[in-house]
Amino acid sequence: MNKAVAVVTGAGSGIGSAISRELSARGYHVVVTDMNEMAAQSLANTLDSARACKMDVTSIEEINEVANSVISIEQRLDLWVSNAGVSKMARFEDVSESMFDFTIAVNLKGVFFAGQAAARAMNTLGTNNGVIVNIASMAGKQGKVPFLADYVASKFGVVGLTQAMAYELAPSGIRVNSVCPGYVATPMQVRELAWEAELRGMTSEQVRNLWIADTPLGRLEEPEDVAKVVCFLAGRDADFLTGEAIAVNGGAFMD
Ligand SMILES: NC(=O)c1ccc[n+]([C@@H]2O[C@H](COP(=O)([O-])OP(=O)(O)OC[C@H]3O[C@@H](n4cnc5c(N)ncnc54)[C@H](O)[C@@H]3O)[C@@H](O)[C@H]2O)c1
Repeated sequence: MNKAVAVVTGAGSGIGSAISRELSARGYHVVVTDMNEMAAQSLANTLDSARACKMDVTSIEEINEVANSVISIEQRLDLWVSNAGVSKMARFEDVSESMFDFTIAVNLKGVFFAGQAAARAMNTLGTNNGVIVNIASMAGKQGKVPFLADYVASKFGVVGLTQAMAYELAPSGIRVNSVCPGYVATPMQVRELAWEAELRGMTSEQVRNLWIADTPLGRLEEPEDVAKVVCFLAGRDADFLTGEAIAVNGGAFMD
């Protein structure tokens, strides 16, 4: 494959779709993956050079199948973006064990084993300057987030895991960074607006206005805002950048 090759997880919606479109516009061949195979396929059909794969990141078998297919089909892997994630709002006292386990399985264990498969594939293919980007969250940098304790725990985990991966994979020339978005307008956000509105006794519109008021740059974040930062991290301008958690949130949380 002459083009640089990127794999994106959870690419059938929201931020993952925007990342795939932005990478494609910048000349990447994109392996578009999602547990929702139809959503992945519909997006892949609109891109210049792409292939869709079903991948549920809670299945290590499916992760390894995709990584192995990249080794045999594209024979090249430059970038792996672990974006798939889930959220469900509940008061801390009401989070059940199954809810906690599910959040951790997708948001943390999924990123761990997808990263492992990506590193193994890059090493097998002899990739120079391989890049892994993990999508964490503003909730991976601060716990002052209502009704998302299990999510916060998973995303802090992603930020720490990113540092450990960056440290261990540096000798292989692989850079690993996480990106921490704020209030991004996606289907996940629409669900969260409704949950938070119910838990606070407000309307979704009132909650949306609170989130905008909490953002110094004065608007909700667009998935493309995240996609552009992922492309920066994937590119040569970020050659000496590894182990970082890049906030892209319009100033909603500064550290
Ligand atoms: N929307 C936000 O405000 C926001 C803010 C910070 C971080 N994030 C993070 O960005 C990422 C993308 O979020 P989004 O807002 O685009 O969400 P979304 O719900 O719009 O899209 C998520 C996609 O991931 C897929 N997915 C879910 N579970 C999966 C699994 N087990 N295996 C593979 N695919 C799976 C879904 O099918 C969907 O296509 C998530 O990691 C999320 O935590 C989102």
